[in-house]
Amino acid sequence: MSAKSNKRGAQAPLLGSKIKLNIEKLAIGGAGVARHEGMVVFVPQAAPNEEILAEVTLVKKNFVEAKLVEVLKPSPFRREPPCPVANVCGGCNWQHINEDEQRRQKEKLVLETIQKFNRGVEFEYLPIKESPRSLRYRNRIQPKFKNNHFGFFARNSHDVVEIEDCLITEETLTAKFPEVKAWVQAKKSKDLQRLEMYISEEGPVRYGLITDEDDGIGFSQINRFQNEDLIQTALAWAGEENYDQVFDLYAGAGNFTFPLAQKYPTSQVIGVELNPKLVEKAKSKIQDKKVKYFLSDVESYMRRASIGNQDLVLLDPPRAGASELIMRTLAAAKPKKIIYISCHPVSLARDLNWFFAWSQKLGTRMKLARVQAFEMFPQTDHVETIAELRVDS
Ligand SMILES: C[S@@+](CC[C@H](N)C(=O)[O-])C[C@H]1O[C@@H](n2cnc3c(N)ncnc32)[C@H](O)[C@@H]1O
Repeated sequence: MSAKSNKRGAQAPLLGSKIKLNIEKLAIGGAGVARHEGMVVFVPQAAPNEEILAEVTLVKKNFVEAKLVEVLKPSPFRREPPCPVANVCGGCNWQHINEDEQRRQKEKLVLETIQKFNRGVEFEYLPIKESPRSLRYRNRIQPKFKNNHFGFFARNSHDVVEIEDCLITEETLTAKFPEVKAWVQAKKSKDLQRLEMYISEEGPVRYGLITDEDDGIGFSQINRFQNEDLIQTALAWAGEENYDQVFDLYAGAGNFTFPLAQKYPTSQVIGVELNPKLVEKAKSKIQDKKVKYFLSDVESYMRRASIGNQDLVLLDPPRAGASELIMRTLAAAKPKKIIYISCHPVSLARDLNWFFAWSQKLGTRMKLARVQAFEMFPQTDHVETIAELRVDS
């Protein structure tokens, strides 16, 4: 069937059919990407450079989704997943691909995504930073409990897969699984129980239920081994300049705020964060009058912020990214430097596009100096990226 006949709605023959595909690369979201009669096909659990048989599960105007039926010629990067439940658990989607290739794919995805949204924008692209640990790196997890099963949701389902261990989680946490399972079992609830377990800053493991009233501890960097390098890179890229004000937008509990305050002791340092628990935690750590923390939505804060051309702005938004208003305000303010830390390449690329479009309209030139992907979440398709924008002199 051609793409043309597909547009007219004659999709039935393709849906449910089995097709042979060559997987070219991986996509954001983790699926393998292939082409079939002019259509892009996404196949979860496929690996790059392999031939597969797949069954079509969804036909849309511009793309097709299919499920892997059989690997005909395996990818040179395919491996037996280190975790015994990797094929059923919804937690890790890239365990079947070796770690060198996981990094290579992420490095490529970040570059291609930024370029796609920002044609003609030139920048230095540094090699991806490897995580010190590719297993046993997570210090915060959200297990589930239902029907006497303690574990994680199965892939594409709300059934809970029983787990005794989780190979991407630090052993200090997994050692507590029997205790936590017994604790939640004792509640004798028939409903799904959502839990959170984490290694506290003070050291002991803490756990509890996530409920409508209590949504857990809020954001914290889950790979503390790689987070250290991310902080040092942000500080190094911020450079040896003097800044009047240093803004940390989407500041969490101050992961970057306090290292920035230490590096720039004469600057006014301002953290902005929406989660009251994180703001309270950060405020309890403030020892210096030069550090201020605001409980605010960043967009509302930007409407009243006075950012000058001698300032540094670091922003680390959630996966949805910032917004056009925020990027327009930054373009208009033209601070000395902007460090953008992102956990989603598409929102980063879109925000950069808004930034350059507004810089052009307003005649405030800044350049994308350098970009680097960081492996923060091995065994999954998620990737962290750091980008530096500075005044184009
Ligand atoms: C990716 S985290 C980064 C946190 C911090 N920079 C760190 O490294 O720990 C994003 C943070 O933005 C906060 N957040 C989400 N939406 C926000 C908004 N509209 N305004 C302010 N903060 C927001 C979240 O609560 C979360 O703490």
